[in-house]
Amino acid sequence: MDLKEHIALKQLPKHIAIIMDGNGRWAKQQGLIRAIGHENGTKSVRQVVEASAELGIQNLTLYAFSTENWNRPKLEVQTLMKLLVSSLKKEIKTLQDNNIKLTAIGNLGTLPKKVYKELHEVIDNTKHNTHMTLTLALSYGSREELLNTVKEISIKVKNNIISVEKIDESIINEHLYTRNLPDVDLLIRTSGEQRISNFLLWQIAYAELYFTQVLWPDFTKQHLYEAIIEYQKRERRFGKTSEQLS
Ligand code: IPE
Ligand code: IPE
Ligand code: MG
Repeated sequence: MDLKEHIALKQLPKHIAIIMDGNGRWAKQQGLIRAIGHENGTKSVRQVVEASAELGIQNLTLYAFSTENWNRPKLEVQTLMKLLVSSLKKEIKTLQDNNIKLTAIGNLGTLPKKVYKELHEVIDNTKHNTHMTLTLALSYGSREELLNTVKEISIKVKNNIISVEKIDESIINEHLYTRNLPDVDLLIRTSGEQRISNFLLWQIAYAELYFTQVLWPDFTKQHLYEAIIEYQKRERRFGKTSEQLS
């Protein structure tokens, strides 16, 4: 049975974010090196990108590399960066064919030159695409993002561009890396870990959280459908009572 048929297309989450976790454990289970886990993880990326585009999800954000991941062994970081360049090269056609716009959030200046260049090439080549926005979180940390936001707003206050009284949630939103994206509706984390690991802390304030034991390289379109079906069963009350909603 295809789970896709059980999805209500009129109630799709506008923004799905995924913490793609478990590549290392997947490899270990098969007696393989971690790099092979990361390589197989890219297949799952393709699965969720395609499935999201087919369904009509407007925004998909993938946590690919955190600020904390820089502390991994040098060789693993290198492997991940190389994989990123090769995936970008390989997937540009998929993005164009599906009318998908690629964007990135994070401290992108810290990425190796080669990655930065390839990334910006794909971002530039897909910037007019309109069907879906795919955002890669790269060298991304939510606390760093919030810190930058505070600094940028402070400078504007100091230079009399904004008054303190005018600072509200929308001003904060406009200064985040995610300024062009709506709040996250559904946050998925694979591999059984139940934590946020410094991802989109502000943006997930009212997101529905979905944790699955499935390791990222095993994650398929059907798993994404399962998550969306579960999301659609939940009642999002935003502080109100159930009666107020009906
Ligand atoms: C996710 O898989 C990929 C990145 C964080 C870059 P991991 O590499 O964290 O896999 P585990 O958690 O060690 O299994
Ligand atoms: C979170 O996974 C970051 C990414 C998926 C890119 P980690 O594997 O780095 O998270 P922790 O360290 O287990 O919290
Ligand atoms: Mg992990």
